[in-house]
Amino acid sequence: METVILDANDSDNITLCADVLRGGGLVAFPTETVYGLGANALDEKAVAGIFFAKGRQEDNPLIVHVASVDDVKSLVINIPEVFKLLVNKYWPGPLTLIMQKSDVVPDNVTAGLGTVAIRMPEHPAALALIRAFGGPIAAPSANPSGKPSPTKAKHVFDDLDGKIPYILDGGDCKVGVESTVLDITGDIPKVLRPGSVTCDELVHLLENIVAAETKEVGTPMSPGMKYRHYAPRAPLTVVIGMPVKTAEYISARMNDSTAALMFDDFAFSHPNVVSFGNHKDHTTQAKRLFDALRKVDNMAVSHIYAQVPQEEGLGATVVNRLKKAAGNNLIDLND
Ligand code: TXA
Ligand code: MG
Repeated sequence: METVILDANDSDNITLCADVLRGGGLVAFPTETVYGLGANALDEKAVAGIFFAKGRQEDNPLIVHVASVDDVKSLVINIPEVFKLLVNKYWPGPLTLIMQKSDVVPDNVTAGLGTVAIRMPEHPAALALIRAFGGPIAAPSANPSGKPSPTKAKHVFDDLDGKIPYILDGGDCKVGVESTVLDITGDIPKVLRPGSVTCDELVHLLENIVAAETKEVGTPMSPGMKYRHYAPRAPLTVVIGMPVKTAEYISARMNDSTAALMFDDFAFSHPNVVSFGNHKDHTTQAKRLFDALRKVDNMAVSHIYAQVPQEEGLGATVVNRLKKAAGNNLIDLND
């Protein structure tokens, strides 16, 4: 199969992709966070195709994407009180909500769990596709399992060429890291995956939340969080500490077979240095992180070092993704 990249701004292309979904096929589409690999969420066979194309573990459930708050009704058996407050503030947008699933949601979407993850994306092409299709779309990030999530149509093409018919190109994703996953089935909402809606913001709105467990093991996590993710081929070491110190540490170790992910304001001149935003600019870091990881992954190096931001606000999400990419291989210069 030849994979074709289509302009997401052309409504004929949206119609074409909606037809593919109706036929039980897969298409990649842009969202504001990362590109998704979509299938008809109510068609078990179509959903199985997602797991196959990604090489995804069957125990890792998918997010169901809807185009309105109303679309949620048929997918869940109970809408918690806090739902309205959250969707009023964050939908459409990068917040995924976990609720009790109804029978219409196939078991493979939720990996056999009694709960389903739902979000309404903000990207106009994602909303147009869901509306043209006329139903919910199950979509994980459009990368093979374990690789960095795609934030450009080209990333999806590099990863899935030959496996899907179409990629809707809606430009670079403006957020760049995946949605926050919030479980609202219990008395206190629980962050299962930190994302672009930060824990600080959620605490502000809800007062009481259980924050994500960022360690490799621990119970309050999404099933997906236990797997190694975003990992480049060469081992990655995350270097924690004051940026001036971590830059010094990394530059002392640079050679032809080393690459580094550096802040713009601390990057030094070396062909294997890729920068991803100023040290305090977490929004830019989030937007550029996965592309930077892909760039160093394409270099023939045997080791990669990365600076990491302060664990505050969106910086905490950037740190979470970098630590996962490093398989928790950390050096803390503060110790
Ligand atoms: O921004 C995003 O969320 C992107 C775009 C495409 O929407 N999607 C995405 O999907 O990141 P994926 O499949 O890469 O990550 C979904 C996460 C996984 O960690 C999964 O375990 C968790 O959501 N999840 C899904 N359903 C769940 C459930 N019922 N209970 C707990 N965690 C769930
Ligand atoms: Mg993913």
